[in-house]
Amino acid sequence: MHLCCFGYGKAVQSPRHEKDITTNNVRLFSYNILRSATRNFHPSNKLGGGGFGVVYRGILRDGIQVAVKSLSAESEQGIREFLTEIDMISNVRHPNLVKLIGCCIEGSNRVLVYEYLENNSLASALLGPWSRRVDLDWSQRVAICIGTAQGLAFLHEDINPHIVHRDIKASNILLDRDFNPKIGDFGLAKLFPDNVTHVTTRVAGSMGYLAPEYALLGQLTKKADIYSFGVLILEIVSGRSNSKSAWGEDLMLLVEWIWKLREEGRLLDILDPELVEFPANEVLLFIKVALFCIQAASNQRPSMKRVVKMLRNEVNFNEKLLTPPGVYKVHPTVKDSAGDSPLEGSPPEVHKDDTPVTVPSISTSINIFKMQPR
Ligand SMILES: Nc1ncnc2c1ncn2[C@@H]1O[C@H](COP(=O)(O)OP(=O)(O)OP(=O)(O)O)[C@@H](O)[C@H]1O
Ligand SMILES: [Mg+2]
Repeated sequence: MHLCCFGYGKAVQSPRHEKDITTNNVRLFSYNILRSATRNFHPSNKLGGGGFGVVYRGILRDGIQVAVKSLSAESEQGIREFLTEIDMISNVRHPNLVKLIGCCIEGSNRVLVYEYLENNSLASALLGPWSRRVDLDWSQRVAICIGTAQGLAFLHEDINPHIVHRDIKASNILLDRDFNPKIGDFGLAKLFPDNVTHVTTRVAGSMGYLAPEYALLGQLTKKADIYSFGVLILEIVSGRSNSKSAWGEDLMLLVEWIWKLREEGRLLDILDPELVEFPANEVLLFIKVALFCIQAASNQRPSMKRVVKMLRNEVNFNEKLLTPPGVYKVHPTVKDSAGDSPLEGSPPEVHKDDTPVTVPSISTSINIFKMQPR
């Protein structure tokens, strides 16, 4: 396809002879440029893949390393709308957000080009296979939690219109060469506003981070991100995944286990055994902030700006106000609400009719009527 346009309603000629065009904020790459940067999308350059597509490491001709995300899901949007979103995303700049450098739209190919983060994702460094794990000490973990909180607070409260990330999880926290965190994939879900299949894939991939009201009712607000961020803090403190395994004697999700430990006055039991030196008071503070974020009652969760202050120990909070966590339990065999494709993690508690059912969490419950595909 030879029409490439960039925002502002102005159509420009597609790049010729593999040259790329620089626009206001985003570079428009030709597919050939990206193909040669990634050695024809060679498997050895593959960094990973998720609900949106596959990510490759690439090196541009000027030697700059990039992460090239080849989008797999069909977008319902036209080119202009797509580029408008890209423009919007690339305008959002913060030290704790992954920078979108450019994109490519040619034929059915839609590719995003991001700055490359040397130390991969938090999922790989903290929760990945042992060979890939990195010994993150307590001060690095503090910096990762606070940096991520700042990035999210920026998305939620400093830009207009604000952005709800929708997919805060360890694989979307990238680490630069000094292990500073940068949130990736913000704004991406907006490129696929009506693609239910895509969202289904993404939700399945993000199991464990979903606020119950989002997973079950499709209620998507900043508070759903804040829930996910709370789960992330627990993972960072414990070195354990909330979605991949069960913990404690009763094989519970991390969010259930931490509540039990709190009731038993053993919060520090959750700490990552790899952490040998740590200030117990600060660890406890972080766990408590996480508990505030994962409360089932979404209106009780603090805003991200407040979370930043809480983590920095700049505000007092009353622990007695803490209410039980929301727990979204999953069942591997249940089919999705359309009934035809298996959705990893559909809740067994959800009925297919309109009968109200109760999803138990720990001493709290959420009444739901029907799971709506989003
Ligand atoms: N900018 C980047 N720099 C370095 N590595 C990256 C970058 N972006 C992504 N990656 C790597 O690519 C992997 C796949 O990313 P991708 O976003 O496709 O999947 P995901 O984060 O697991 O799922 P989702 O599609 O829900 O975001 C990440 O886990 C990370 O290891
Ligand atoms: Mg991602």
